Amino acid sequence: MIRSLRGMNDILSDARFEYFIATATAVARRYGFEYIETPLLEETALFKRSVGESSDIVGKEMYQFIDKGENDVCLRPEGTAGVVRAFVQNKLDRKGGIHRFYYHGPMFRYERPQKGRLREFHQFGVESFGVASVLEDASLILMVADIFKALGIGYTLKLNSLGDSACMPQYRERLVNFLELHVSEICEDCQRRKATNPIRVLDCKNESCQAIYKEAPKLFDHLCNECQSDFDRLRVLLDAHGVAYEIDTHLVRGLDYYSKTAFEFVSNEIGAQSAIAGGGRYDRLVEFLEGKATPAVGFAIGVERLLDLIKMPEPTRQGYYFGALDEAALESVLRLGQMKRACDLCVIEYEPKSLKAHLKGADRIHARYCAVIGEEELAAGCVWVKDLQEGGESRIAFDAF
Ligand code: HAM
Repeated sequence: MIRSLRGMNDILSDARFEYFIATATAVARRYGFEYIETPLLEETALFKRSVGESSDIVGKEMYQFIDKGENDVCLRPEGTAGVVRAFVQNKLDRKGGIHRFYYHGPMFRYERPQKGRLREFHQFGVESFGVASVLEDASLILMVADIFKALGIGYTLKLNSLGDSACMPQYRERLVNFLELHVSEICEDCQRRKATNPIRVLDCKNESCQAIYKEAPKLFDHLCNECQSDFDRLRVLLDAHGVAYEIDTHLVRGLDYYSKTAFEFVSNEIGAQSAIAGGGRYDRLVEFLEGKATPAVGFAIGVERLLDLIKMPEPTRQGYYFGALDEAALESVLRLGQMKRACDLCVIEYEPKSLKAHLKGADRIHARYCAVIGEEELAAGCVWVKDLQEGGESRIAFDAF
């Protein structure tokens, strides 16, 4: 039997999946965001340049191949790079003003599959272009909080500032000097990161490395005035809106494009892969991808990790279940059911069954009404209908149904 690839799952009539997308979409639209869809396949260079060659995502996890036209392409590992490419390619950077987008769809990372870590997974994300103020960062965090509130999901919000081009380079130098002093004690990965992207050592999963980094200089203590005042303002805004957070100076995110605000929402109910959403500001990325410098900020929520946390509303009864008691009534059932479908939900059963079996079938699909035609109804030109919510039953003429 041919099976799906490892780490790639079917989503089989999972009401939670649809409910999540509908809820997140409704919230994003309330915040003035508009839908964007970008291709799953992009030039590999896009991700190398944006997510960064030294990141694990690009260095180890890309679904990369040469296509029939000899193009070096890659299945998108995340959504931001494609949206920024579309923003620049469609000249929205030249237009100026504010552009806010939301998207959802599959992302691909060749990771070692485990609970909460898939090779094909889904994200719901937003990207906002043109607002330099940290008020927008706060708004996006409030948006994630609104989405999680609507779904009944608890979380811890972690917050950090990754500085900007005024303070990050000096900090990087300080950190490298510190790492030089400990080079024989840190793991091989961190030794490599020291040369390629030193701040990534801070989220190394190795406990002995983490023990050393407790003493490492913190960017947080060396922010320039602008980054410091933005961060302070963000904290005041979140406090004012009653959103609790923890400052995590080791939160560096696994993608290289961030500056200033970085945040992650984590859940303590889903095991080791606890990040359920992540995002931050990326003011330099549009320019990096040859657009006109444009401030930007965004986030993405990981859909699969959330599913078990969603508190679904009680299913409400809706629409019709429609069946026949005998063969002769089947065509009338299809004709009338098809008419119902023009404006209502109508599930038609094509096997003649007993009334009891039809009532059971209607209940199973949470139909509001069970409609049935038998010999008697056919002769009288009417449909027998039971309201499964209120309990009443009646016969309705074909042309009034
Ligand atoms: P990210 O933190 O790499 O950020 O991914 C966002 C979320 O996707 C994670 O918090 C997690 O819930 C989910 N996720 C990531 N990898 C996997 C996986 N292998 N299996 C299942 N779920 C996973 C980004 O992708 C950025 N583009 C977010 C962003 C948007 N920043 C600014 N704008």
